[in-house]
Amino acid sequence: MPRPYVLLNVAATVDGKIDTHERRGAAISTVRDRQRVDELRASVDAVMVGSRTLHDEDPRLTVKSETLRAERVARGQPENPAKVGVASLLKLGSDSRFLTSGPARIILFVPHGCGDVDLGRRGVEIYEVGEARVDLTAALSRLAEIGIKRLMVEGGGTLNFELLRLGLVDEVELFVAPLIFGGAAAPTLADGDGALSLKLVRSSVETWDDGGVVLRYMVEQS
Ligand SMILES: NC(=O)c1ccc[n+]([C@@H]2O[C@H](COP(=O)([O-])OP(=O)(O)OC[C@H]3O[C@@H](n4cnc5c(N)ncnc54)[C@H](OP(=O)(O)O)[C@@H]3O)[C@@H](O)[C@H]2O)c1
Repeated sequence: MPRPYVLLNVAATVDGKIDTHERRGAAISTVRDRQRVDELRASVDAVMVGSRTLHDEDPRLTVKSETLRAERVARGQPENPAKVGVASLLKLGSDSRFLTSGPARIILFVPHGCGDVDLGRRGVEIYEVGEARVDLTAALSRLAEIGIKRLMVEGGGTLNFELLRLGLVDEVELFVAPLIFGGAAAPTLADGDGALSLKLVRSSVETWDDGGVVLRYMVEQS
């Protein structure tokens, strides 16, 4: 089934944590890293997040730089990439940043029977795929059908794990910050039930003056 090219972006500490055990969206990115993320967002057709990241952090997912937005428009693209949420249960407030920051196309994937008529009336595109949980293979195939060629995934760890497990990730871009959060309960890049055994091929490494390292890997598809 055709699907978009999928790039997974993560900011992690040296001990591999993507947040503290409190799970309140701890700051990991540096100023320069936030610019890198903005450039990545500006290069894709859509940005996807999982339910807990969507509801707990209510991310804007828009391109911050006016210049990058203008360049997208000059290329014939919308000002911002589409925002994509994956959730079993939608609990978005009508004034949430995810819904109101834009302009941007908003796409939500939910299991069958879990749509939201009010959001649909507001112009949010809601697709019901899967039974108890969202069928991510079907969701990506739907994204390809509606014109999304390049997708950036911005976590969290559970969504990352499922996409990696299903062989739906092409590339991983990782900012490693000079921090250690520690704690077995702090989330990591790929949190999920079971285990993964994936091989990566490094494509580039950048070391930055702010102490961060950017690692880029291609995922070896089995
Ligand atoms: N540093 C970073 O780069 C970064 C980026 C993003 C997030 N984070 C951190 O990651 C943490 C949140 O991650 P998380 O793992 O708790 O949650 P998550 O990956 O954001 O969301 C996972 C949830 O999505 C829903 N879902 C529905 N269908 C699914 C499917 N097929 N596969 C996977 N998920 C599906 C499920 O919740 P429902 O059953 O409720 O639908 C699932 O629990 C936070 O601490 C946040 O700060 C870090």
